[in-house]
Amino acid sequence: MKRELVIVLDFGGQYNQLVARRVRECNVYCEIYSYKTDIEKIKEMGPKGIILTGGPNSCYGADAPTYPKELFELGIPVLGLCYGAQLMMLVLGGNVARANVREYGKTEVLVDKLSSKIFDGISPRTICWMSHFDSIIDVAPGFEITAHTADCPVAAAENEAAGLYAIQFHPEVLHTEEGLKMLSNFVLGICRCDGNWRMDSFVEESIKRIREKVGDGRVLCALSGGVDSSVAAVLMSRAIGSQLTCVFVDHGLLRKNEGDEVEAVFGSKGSYDLNFIRVNAQQRFYDKLAGVSEPEKKRKIIGEEFIRVFEEEAKKIGTVDFLVQGTIYPDIVESGLGGESAVIKSHHNVGGLPDYVDFKEIIEPLRDLFKDEVRKAGLELGIPKYLVFRQPFPGPGLGVRIIGEVNAEKVRIVQDADAICREEIERADAARDVGQYFAALTNMQSVGVMGDERTYEYAVVIRAVNTVDFMTAEAAEIPYAVLNKVMSRIINEVKGVNRVLYDLTSKPPATIEFE
Ligand code: XMP
Repeated sequence: MKRELVIVLDFGGQYNQLVARRVRECNVYCEIYSYKTDIEKIKEMGPKGIILTGGPNSCYGADAPTYPKELFELGIPVLGLCYGAQLMMLVLGGNVARANVREYGKTEVLVDKLSSKIFDGISPRTICWMSHFDSIIDVAPGFEITAHTADCPVAAAENEAAGLYAIQFHPEVLHTEEGLKMLSNFVLGICRCDGNWRMDSFVEESIKRIREKVGDGRVLCALSGGVDSSVAAVLMSRAIGSQLTCVFVDHGLLRKNEGDEVEAVFGSKGSYDLNFIRVNAQQRFYDKLAGVSEPEKKRKIIGEEFIRVFEEEAKKIGTVDFLVQGTIYPDIVESGLGGESAVIKSHHNVGGLPDYVDFKEIIEPLRDLFKDEVRKAGLELGIPKYLVFRQPFPGPGLGVRIIGEVNAEKVRIVQDADAICREEIERADAARDVGQYFAALTNMQSVGVMGDERTYEYAVVIRAVNTVDFMTAEAAEIPYAVLNKVMSRIINEVKGVNRVLYDLTSKPPATIEFE
């Protein structure tokens, strides 16, 4: 069965991935492409609909991103959002100019054409997210205005017969209260997609495809215990069983008990059909890290050592046919292969590509999925919830949560403090909406008193952040009582700590991790 496709043409807007994710929430498969994508390629892909994103430019500017008029004449419905809406008007003969008032934030939109297909089931007055300097002054011939706001005469316009829709606000952000319904009206109602993109069929199709591709070949997978590699491993195991070997390198920088947990799930006593190899390489990593305190150097050492250990294990196995990578769709977009607003990832992942392993081909079973879809696929595959909903944990592990030199003693401190921190935040149900929360270890020792004794010990720092995309973040407002409990348990239970601090800093200027 051919997958139905909606294309998001990216004009550099910050919400490009969000648009695609929302479309997928409507059970319609969606991919992001740069606005530079040739029209012939678009025709070849045969999308059922096209969405033009927002962007930072003025569409009438000399070098502004644009698209030939032909795009609007393919007979494929097009929805322009913000910049995309203005561009649609300009290209088709309308007029766009700088508005008198900049509209920004939650705004009441008044729907003028309640019978519009895009506003089917939408309230006549609806709260939407606006963010624009420029405005549509005149709509293009054949278009009618379908919504306005107090400051913006054209909040939406359409040429129903031609299947062209322009929306000045951002239906993809949650602040637009009925935004998802509008996008669903577009992809399901106007583009007539069936909405058959579901995780159960994804899992089934993938298993079939993997079997065809792999045949009776041998497959090697680096398993970190994180969400992506776990889901990739289980999917592969479902498809090809013991033709799959998973190598799990315990670099001694995992969270407390994590190594044993991963082994319990994937090892011989677990419930999956695969060959599981755990390499206990803790001391090897500590030896390499001894005396090194520069953060980038630590990352490099951990990354390289990981590859060496993995290679050694792979050599024991001999030639394999395929190497599994847990690449997911945002990795593809962010590395510049997908959309326009590419943010090049600088993170050097442990579990990145081992250059010298003898394999014939890479297999990336999750490359089409967003993170929330990876989790859904994980649940579909019966992976335990605590693994599926794990918070992000960086490849270099606690190596990026220990300031200064890394050694076994510091790892023990941060593991114990972190376990308490996570346990108490979860117990108090204070983790909802918190993107990431953990303990890290400063390199600071300071004077304290314990009983009658003077102490000179480490300060642990608690970090908890709210974030949408991990590019920016704010310190989370964890209730004081919870923080206090975390502090007192760490002081009482973790030897070597006499102060607990809370990091209030946002990103930027700080980062989420503490390195
Ligand atoms: P920072 O610290 O850069 O982190 O604000 C942003 C997000 O990325 C995660 N992170 C990593 N993830 N490998 C990863 O897979 C890495 O090397 C790495 N470094 C940071 C971090 O946990 C946060 O979610």
